[in-house]
Amino acid sequence: MRKMRTQSAPWRAVAVLASVLLVGGVAACGNSDTGGGGSKDDGKITMGFSQVGAESGWRTANTTSIKESAAAAGIELKFDDAQQKQENQIKAIRNYIQQKVDVIAFSPVVESGWDTVLKEAKDAGIPVILTDRSVDSADKSLYKTFLGSDFVKEGKLAGEWLVEQKKSATGPVNIVELQGNTGAAPANDRKKGFGEAIAANPNLKIIASQPGDFTRAGGKQVMEQFLKANPKIDVLFAHNDDMGLGALEAITAAGKVPGKDITIITVDAVKDGMQALADGKFNFIAECSPLLGPQLMDLAKKVKAGETVPPRIETEETTFTTEQAKEALPTRKY
Ligand code: AHR
Repeated sequence: MRKMRTQSAPWRAVAVLASVLLVGGVAACGNSDTGGGGSKDDGKITMGFSQVGAESGWRTANTTSIKESAAAAGIELKFDDAQQKQENQIKAIRNYIQQKVDVIAFSPVVESGWDTVLKEAKDAGIPVILTDRSVDSADKSLYKTFLGSDFVKEGKLAGEWLVEQKKSATGPVNIVELQGNTGAAPANDRKKGFGEAIAANPNLKIIASQPGDFTRAGGKQVMEQFLKANPKIDVLFAHNDDMGLGALEAITAAGKVPGKDITIITVDAVKDGMQALADGKFNFIAECSPLLGPQLMDLAKKVKAGETVPPRIETEETTFTTEQAKEALPTRKY
């Protein structure tokens, strides 16, 4: 029978040391798996951010705000552009979980369908901050807070302005609506707020309402269809400036004067939209601020430090008429 070779004393010592190091290493990894998400505890914060896309001027300003604020706050930012696709956002969030970032932040392209991936983040001990748009998850413990606008209020402010403008109308006022992308919180909520406000005057009727996906191209294309199908359009309510700007081209090409033949109301108040308002091509804008970066970074620091943050932080916003746009334009940041 062959005898098993026994290790000499020095080799035994090396083997024992190696196994101690191995066990220690595994234990250290195990700790970071469950220890609040971050892979290292060097005081630095790494944020994984999944952005909706680059569909509008608002979005571009929002991305700039997030990147600049992360750099100013000393937060390492991992940034992903989902190109308006929910599956890309889910993939990015899963990558961030694997990379054990300290905080995940994202602006959900649509409201529904996030529970599974949010649960995965929670199970990995990584806090999630919703920014700009929210989700419809019933379990509010899946995210720490939601920082962003009140989209219902924006739609309501737009509708209330119209009610006031048309208070002496004696016949029907035909409204067409350009919605944001289907299923997005700002599309659902702005529609709701606007609809509730105009219900105050039965003369105000939405005769057509279609998604233009928050893009100029979408706004132009859908407005062309609206103009072909409806000989009398009195008002356009566009869920953002970009769709309104696209619609301007269609309206002009149809031989109508925007801002006069058709009253135009939009949301956002980005520079191009404000210029159209100052020029009298738009008539009213409800503001939606994209400058969420500084507050987001502040929240990330608090959440990482284990501090309790309010579950909802609403952005401060206003509205603009033509005169107000002329005044605000020279100092407008985005
Ligand atoms: O979620 C905010 C909205 O998304 C903005 O109003 C719009 O311009 C953007 O695409």
